[in-house]
Amino acid sequence: MPIRETLFLGRGDVRRLLSMETALPVVESAFAAHGRGETRMPPKIYLDLPEFKGDFRAMPAYIPSLNAAGVKWVSSHTANPGRGLPAVIAVLILSDPETAEPLAIMDATHLTLMRTGAAGGVAARYLSREDSHVLALVGAGVQSHAQLDAIRLVRPVRQVRLSDPNQAAVQSFMDHFGADPELEITICGDGREAVAGADIVVTTTPSRKPVVRRDWLGDAVHINAIGADAMGKQELETAILQDARVYIDDREQALHSGEVNVPVSSGAWSADNLAGSLGEVVAGLAEGRTRGGGLTVFDSTGLAVQDMAVARAVYDRAVKEGVGQALPLATE
Ligand SMILES: NC(=O)c1ccc[n+]([C@@H]2O[C@H](COP(=O)([O-])OP(=O)(O)OC[C@H]3O[C@@H](n4cnc5c(N)ncnc54)[C@H](O)[C@@H]3O)[C@@H](O)[C@H]2O)c1
Repeated sequence: MPIRETLFLGRGDVRRLLSMETALPVVESAFAAHGRGETRMPPKIYLDLPEFKGDFRAMPAYIPSLNAAGVKWVSSHTANPGRGLPAVIAVLILSDPETAEPLAIMDATHLTLMRTGAAGGVAARYLSREDSHVLALVGAGVQSHAQLDAIRLVRPVRQVRLSDPNQAAVQSFMDHFGADPELEITICGDGREAVAGADIVVTTTPSRKPVVRRDWLGDAVHINAIGADAMGKQELETAILQDARVYIDDREQALHSGEVNVPVSSGAWSADNLAGSLGEVVAGLAEGRTRGGGLTVFDSTGLAVQDMAVARAVYDRAVKEGVGQALPLATE
């Protein structure tokens, strides 16, 4: 059997091949497979680099139904935006599960952004009110762009309320979305002003102390808590979790590094209160939003199964369209 070449896909290739319209259904099916227990995904491994204000994470996964296996090597370096670099930089190896051949090596920086946005869209589809049209974004970095792109595919978002102390981030958000005739964007002085009257709240900050408080929120709000994805990070006041139905993406990862990690380790909130995982909701094994009112929280840590499902879709499309560069990786 001849050894297959490995396809190299740069950031521009992946950007061309992957839209939010493509990512959203692929991520939704990855959540369903994960919810049914049909995936294999050891929890991510962290390599902390406090001297560089960052970390690396290794994220392996296998999805039998998609014939996709591989690993993503991804960072979260908070000083990077100040250097003109993304806070999150990633590379992914997609392998054939049967032969172990590396099918592709691809930049996964844009892929990470898209699959995280798509997870937010899936959560909004199952957990927010159908008529949700006011979206508050606390944090205006790149993840907030992807959240808006995904949520507006599933909900009729017309008003966006934005809060970020970093003027450059706000400007870049406005450069991207400011001219969109279907969006009315309000730049708010702080998080409290941003979340007032919101149907959906998305937090995408690297904060280690709450940036949204319970008494700022209405009574029928869904929150995507995206920023907390490492131990010690927290964006929501614990009183919000106490009043909400809380859904995680993966129990082990969430307890270690998700929004719930700080209140669980301090004893202020118990994991016994979890309503389920988003995958279980998508698979019909747990209830999502059952009535108009009430708070719901999606605690996103980011799953390797999201990455592998999207990487498989990118690879298949690249092969079909002849995109990328074949590398003779296995040549002696
Ligand atoms: N859950 C996941 O799957 C997942 C995936 C990727 C990234 N992340 C995390 O999401 C976070 C954001 O990532 P990014 O790439 O958008 O980073 P980024 O640096 O581009 O943006 C973060 C923004 O948050 C702002 N901010 C900080 N404190 C704030 C506050 N109190 N109120 C409002 N805004 C505030 C910063 O000024 C900055 O503009 C990071 O913590 C990252 O690790 C999570």
